Amino acid sequence: MSATEGRAGIGSLEVDGVARVFRTGAREVRVLRGVTHRFDVGKLTTIQGASGSGKSTLLHIIGGLDKPDAGSVRVDGRDLYSSGRDGLARYRNRRVGMVFQAYHLMPDLTALENVALPSLIGGRAAMDRARELIEAVGLGDRTTHLPGELSGGEQQRVAIARALVNGPDLLLADEPTGNLDSSSGKAVLELMLDLLSGRGLTAVLVTHDAGVASLGHRRLKLADGRLNEE
Ligand SMILES: Nc1ncnc2c1ncn2[C@@H]1O[C@H](COP(=O)(O)OP(=O)(O)OP(=O)(O)O)[C@@H](O)[C@H]1O
Ligand SMILES: [Mg+2]
Repeated sequence: MSATEGRAGIGSLEVDGVARVFRTGAREVRVLRGVTHRFDVGKLTTIQGASGSGKSTLLHIIGGLDKPDAGSVRVDGRDLYSSGRDGLARYRNRRVGMVFQAYHLMPDLTALENVALPSLIGGRAAMDRARELIEAVGLGDRTTHLPGELSGGEQQRVAIARALVNGPDLLLADEPTGNLDSSSGKAVLELMLDLLSGRGLTAVLVTHDAGVASLGHRRLKLADGRLNEE
């Protein structure tokens, strides 16, 4: 399978009554208060919301990184957080590609090694796929650069290539353009949309930016702990 082809994708993704409360000392912050949504498979859904509204929290819950206090995440009809440690790890590594706001690249690995890393952890031969993806994001001439030697936009493109290296079924992107100026942000978004179209990938992108949110096939808004159609 070629890294730029991907596979059929996810069958269904639903969140149902998801709640999350954070306790810091005596303070309690009820961030998500019953989030319910059936995501469109093979489409891009954008979630807009103010800073602190719980966008990252929800994305981490969908990505298998943070267990909700109540409610469920069902992937292909199965409850994600009932799948055990191994099931969750497999889901995170094999099925989900995550793009974080702050890139999260390994500073001592080259651009190419950063892209290949998730598939090395997965135990599969990876360098060819990584090379193909780094070409696809337009960084074929930056493979041996360290993250510190790349611009913000270039680092985010490395992060997008890394998110795609295992041929994920689900791409989750947290403010992928939040740290970029408008022209490199636009270039990164166009690249993501290009990579998504034709792959049948289900994608969820969170942003506080209305312009970015308007790119979604479906546009949702997170406010007061709930998710609603725009
Ligand atoms: N681990 C944690 N412990 C305590 N409080 C937390 C934790 N994670 C998040 N919060 C709180 O939950 C709220 C939602 O945080 P979250 O990061 O999901 O917001 P966000 O919508 O992604 O915001 P931004 O647009 O600024 O990234 C915030 O008030 C935050 O302080
Ligand atoms: Mg956030």
